[in-house]
Amino acid sequence: MKPVKWPTTRHEAEALDRADDLTPLRDRFDLPDTVIYLDGNSLGPRPRVVGDRVRRVIEDEWGADLIASWNRHDWIGLPQRVAAQIASIIGAAPGEVAVGDSTSVNLFKLAAIALDLRPGCRVILTEEENFPTDVYVTEGLVRLVGNSADLRVVPRRDLAQALRSDVAVLMLTHVDFRSGFMHDMAAWTRAAHEAGALALWDLAHSAGAVPLDLRRDHADLAVGCGYKYLNGGPGAPAFAWIAERHLDQVRTPIQGWMGHAEPFAFDLRFRPTADATRLAVGTPPILSMTALECGVEIMAGASMAALRRKSVALTEWFIHRTEERCRGLGLELASPRDPERRGSQVSFRHQRSFAVMQALIQRKVIGDFREPDLLRFGLAPAYVRFVDVWDAVEVLHEILHGRLWDRPEYRVRARVT
Ligand SMILES: Cc1ncc(COP(=O)(O)O)c(C=O)c1O
Repeated sequence: MKPVKWPTTRHEAEALDRADDLTPLRDRFDLPDTVIYLDGNSLGPRPRVVGDRVRRVIEDEWGADLIASWNRHDWIGLPQRVAAQIASIIGAAPGEVAVGDSTSVNLFKLAAIALDLRPGCRVILTEEENFPTDVYVTEGLVRLVGNSADLRVVPRRDLAQALRSDVAVLMLTHVDFRSGFMHDMAAWTRAAHEAGALALWDLAHSAGAVPLDLRRDHADLAVGCGYKYLNGGPGAPAFAWIAERHLDQVRTPIQGWMGHAEPFAFDLRFRPTADATRLAVGTPPILSMTALECGVEIMAGASMAALRRKSVALTEWFIHRTEERCRGLGLELASPRDPERRGSQVSFRHQRSFAVMQALIQRKVIGDFREPDLLRFGLAPAYVRFVDVWDAVEVLHEILHGRLWDRPEYRVRARVT
């Protein structure tokens, strides 16, 4: 929904929200009225139904039916139900997705699988701009497997050159966590295949934020996060995706009983399930999986195309309004200007970005800071309004213009930034 012209008053921004078909989606979340929440790229807000649902599982199911709940309330089928909904969000078939563990752990599994699927090649290729956990995890994997693998980390601009015939897997985060830069999934996947490699995508900042079609783009493997744009709650289970064409050959490196075709046969021989659930390891965390289901069902029920239109309108307008209102106040856009190459977040550089973000947070405009100098704002289209953009930029202007960030308490760093 790109407006013909950007609002020039708060009133006009409110009018845009009234005309927006997605505005009712916001009511499905519990968002305090006093807060402008621009951090759904770190932790999505709480779906309204979560309290009742989790309470029901705790009281009626776990409390009353105890262990019978695995069958009576189909706890055992919950990961697959959530996986089927996530599949519909990322352009996948239900049997291709497994839900559980963290993004980091799933990445370990899939990177190991990629090496296994490409025995003649030993290199995991990624870019320096990647999220550090992706590098840590694969560095650990390479150490574990000894001489049969190597990790090649190059600046983004050198990726094409580094994609040589020794590469087993090109591992990229689709939307850059710092700048919001979005890779062309189809083009990089094609390039990987032409070099004889597989393409492994980290969708942490993409799933629920931008339209995805993993099957159309011929991707091979992917992981993603449950607690960001899928609104699954703090530390929500993550997901992993394997293209159907690879499923037969996939051997998971962490063979757990929940990935066994018949876990209750207690057979010592590991026989994986036929689908991606072979990636499951241990007993699913039913309480957090229930919360994740609440978030995922909201996103699965919404039109990703409509969400994308609104996301582009929000990010375009946020950039436009910030640059206009805060001109000369030390901000520099760190996100791509081209919306085609941008996810659902906008980042600005500022010399005092940490303090500026603390001042914003104190005034209930919640974004986050990322090293070394980024103010990062997530504009999740499911609940961020045009009026939020208006109000957030007004507060940002007030802070920058009045140097209100220049206070000792805004220099204190907590453990989580
Ligand atoms: C791109 C990316 N990958 C991976 C992770 C780590 O996810 P998890 O904590 O589920 O391992 C994050 C967390 O923010 C992320 O942004």
